[in-house]
Amino acid sequence: MKISDEQKGHTLGKALKISRTVKDLRKQVAKWREAGRSIALVPTMGALHDGHIGLVKLGKKQADRVVVSIFVNPTQFAPTEDLARYPRDEAGDLAKLADAHADLVWSPAVEEMYPPGFSTGVLPGSAAEDMEGAIRPHHFGGVATVCCKLFSQVTPDLAIFGEKDYQQLCVLKQMVRDLDLPLKIIGAPTKRADDGLALSSRNAYLSAEERAIAPVLNAVLSALAEDVGKGADIPAGTTEAKRKLLAAGFSAVDYVEVRDAETLGKVERYGGVPLRVLSAVRLGKTRLIDNVRAG
Ligand code: PAF
Repeated sequence: MKISDEQKGHTLGKALKISRTVKDLRKQVAKWREAGRSIALVPTMGALHDGHIGLVKLGKKQADRVVVSIFVNPTQFAPTEDLARYPRDEAGDLAKLADAHADLVWSPAVEEMYPPGFSTGVLPGSAAEDMEGAIRPHHFGGVATVCCKLFSQVTPDLAIFGEKDYQQLCVLKQMVRDLDLPLKIIGAPTKRADDGLALSSRNAYLSAEERAIAPVLNAVLSALAEDVGKGADIPAGTTEAKRKLLAAGFSAVDYVEVRDAETLGKVERYGGVPLRVLSAVRLGKTRLIDNVRAG
């Protein structure tokens, strides 16, 4: 199949470039490397919001060039999940990235990322074992594999991920450490709406009524984090948090957990090392995740 110039890559406005093939991406990255530029990668699935733009701005501070990947990765969705309806808005994303002075958008088609015959995968480590890993058993394998490919394609000095997907951040840090991948993983604090709801592309699914309930998640997790930091019993605290979430109108609570912030190992009580309160809930047809620091 003949690939058009537009599919190969073209320049948008003054500075933002878009690459759609690995060959074109590598050519661009090689030019920067020859000129001695450092590179930050911000991996995304598009439908960009202020949280993503914050990651781009952080990238601009940490490296000479910022590459933003936009790829809705099919291998991290189960057949029952929202791959087909996942929000997509390439034109809107490109406008936001041009405003944020990103340097290059890496936006491959599915067949470019996973050509016919593709069959290799990364088996994520212990950080992937439970919570999201238990409820979405396929998920972190898909995330780890696509991120490994993104790191190999872009060869960034650093990659920036939001703490909103805290377990994902831990899984990727572990992968980079275990596989000796030559880049640094940076976690950036979660951006929130004024009422505390963590910004997420999936918030677009919420009805007005659900949107009014959604901020209770952050409020309940923050209250639990405060109690845990003061030495409260963790099993009792998580049980009470689940009760409050259901009473507020969430349709189901997948989990509320308090874990060691680095290893994600289980803990019974705050003992001086940083902890993380993590949760996933259902609100109608939408699944929301959030987490806050404790201690
Ligand atoms: O967090 C996301 O948007 C995705 O899981 C990621 C890291 C871009 C991999 O597809």
